[in-house]
Amino acid sequence: MSDKVLLNNAKSFDDFDDEFELLEVIDEEVTAEVKPLPAESDSCISSLWLEQKNRLEIPLVLLDSKLIIRWRNDAFRAFRETEGLEYNGRPFHALFSSFADPVYRENLIATLKNPESGYGWKDRVVGRGQEHRQFVADINILPLEYKEKAPEWYLAVITDVTEHQKSIIKANFESILKASLLKDEDTGNHIKRVNAYSQTIASELKGKYQWTYFVDNPDDTMLVDDDFIENIGLLAAFHDVGKIGTPESILLKNGELNDDEWAVMKEHPANGALILDSHPVPMAKRIARSHHERWDGTGYPYSLEGDDPKWGIPLSARIVAIADVYDALRTRRPYKEPFSEEKTCNIIISDAGSHFDPGLVEVFKGLKEEFNRIFLSLSDD
Ligand SMILES: [Fe+2]
Ligand SMILES: [Fe+2]
Repeated sequence: MSDKVLLNNAKSFDDFDDEFELLEVIDEEVTAEVKPLPAESDSCISSLWLEQKNRLEIPLVLLDSKLIIRWRNDAFRAFRETEGLEYNGRPFHALFSSFADPVYRENLIATLKNPESGYGWKDRVVGRGQEHRQFVADINILPLEYKEKAPEWYLAVITDVTEHQKSIIKANFESILKASLLKDEDTGNHIKRVNAYSQTIASELKGKYQWTYFVDNPDDTMLVDDDFIENIGLLAAFHDVGKIGTPESILLKNGELNDDEWAVMKEHPANGALILDSHPVPMAKRIARSHHERWDGTGYPYSLEGDDPKWGIPLSARIVAIADVYDALRTRRPYKEPFSEEKTCNIIISDAGSHFDPGLVEVFKGLKEEFNRIFLSLSDD
């Protein structure tokens, strides 16, 4: 595929997961006619530029009238850039890969050239920055000096709202989680422990080529990274959120469930996926939907099998399956006494390749002490 075709086909960030690839593509379009940067001594440069330029904490980018990147500050480099990438002299759409979408880009250019819009533009974008971590940012492009009634320069002011966004989403979904715990027999510490075990396993997989996941596109897998580790440490807790839709007579039944009751119980992964459908991190829904799938395809609700990115069990759910079962075995349940650490580990290990991903069980074997430490430090007593 030629670079041009690639550019024209670009629809979203995921088409350009690799920044180097993105920059190579947009280089095709560079028409850099370099003019000197505005000097501080230049009396016609806007006071806004002079005032903003030396602010260290806000990522800033200066664009010329042709929307070519001419300067960016250290805060932008720290926020966005990967070592080895050069932005100066490239078109503005190198800034964020969502700008690579031709329709989006044309709209942006038209707005910036339109006096009725005040030659300004703002939007929220999602992308990946330092160490490939996902970010959410507000971009505000302001016109600077005018020449012949059109802006001579533009200043892009970038506000990183990633943490703010995360805290709002976390608060919303935690309320649902708390509501679900009101009726389940699971304790608050069970879900904290499942988060911690899952994060421990994920940390062990970081950067190793045999462990991959994807965000939106199963053909676009990536290695376990800090986003994955952080997300699973928060989202494993949601595995049983679908039990909010399961009758208490079934959830709290003292004794074996009959076939009909089991059928109702087995609806909770699908219910969880429904509840988490609007969660911005797809991992949330995948954990809820697939934590009862089994490696050999005998689990529920969809009898998924193995680790194929398209048809298999998502990595996050395979991890949470081990974490959840480990904790259930070690704790008292209405139908069983707690098992010892040794017996619990033996069950997990003997179920490698049937219930659990055998590769993950190998990883678990090296983490038994850490699992025990988590279990004891977040005990229910
Ligand atoms: Fe469950
Ligand atoms: Fe659980």
